[in-house]
Amino acid sequence: MHQLVLLFIALFAPTTPGSISSGMLSFTHNPDQIARFLADPACVDNAANEVVRYNASNQFTWRVAKTDVEVAGVGIGAGQSVALFLGAANRDPGVFERLGAFDLDRRNSAKHLSFGLGVHSCLGRQIANLQLK
Ligand code: HEM
Repeated sequence: MHQLVLLFIALFAPTTPGSISSGMLSFTHNPDQIARFLADPACVDNAANEVVRYNASNQFTWRVAKTDVEVAGVGIGAGQSVALFLGAANRDPGVFERLGAFDLDRRNSAKHLSFGLGVHSCLGRQIANLQLK
């Protein structure tokens, strides 16, 4: 029931339109990337990834710790809620180079976390990717 309710909400939430809008804004701020795209529209697969890495509509998700854990030296107790800032993960200097650049040729744009991760990652990811393309 939880999944169905979430799916229903997600269908009407402006997730995909929000990401398409912020993608269009990224292109207008980076006209060189418009030229790059027009020169070879085959880069559309990575364009969809880079659009949501650079600035997606969903900036955070959350989890409740099942057990006591330690993440990067910070203790999290069982039962505690943790907000996970996906936009910050998408600019992790340990993963991405030139974090602030909107770059359709970025070799690892697909490592973004804009759709979350694990069993509760975004159920609409495939359809959203199609629409973004
Ligand atoms: C670009 C568009 C979208 C973005 C950026 C996005 C992002 C997200 C994120 C960050 C989560 C939480 C994942 C996690 O906590 O690990 C999520 C969950 C979810 N999304 Fe999306 N979403 C998008 C479009 C959609 C669409 C179009 C649908 C439905 C057709 C959808 C359905 C869902 C559902 C049902 C969940 C809950 C999954 C669960 O809790 O197991 N999403 N989405």
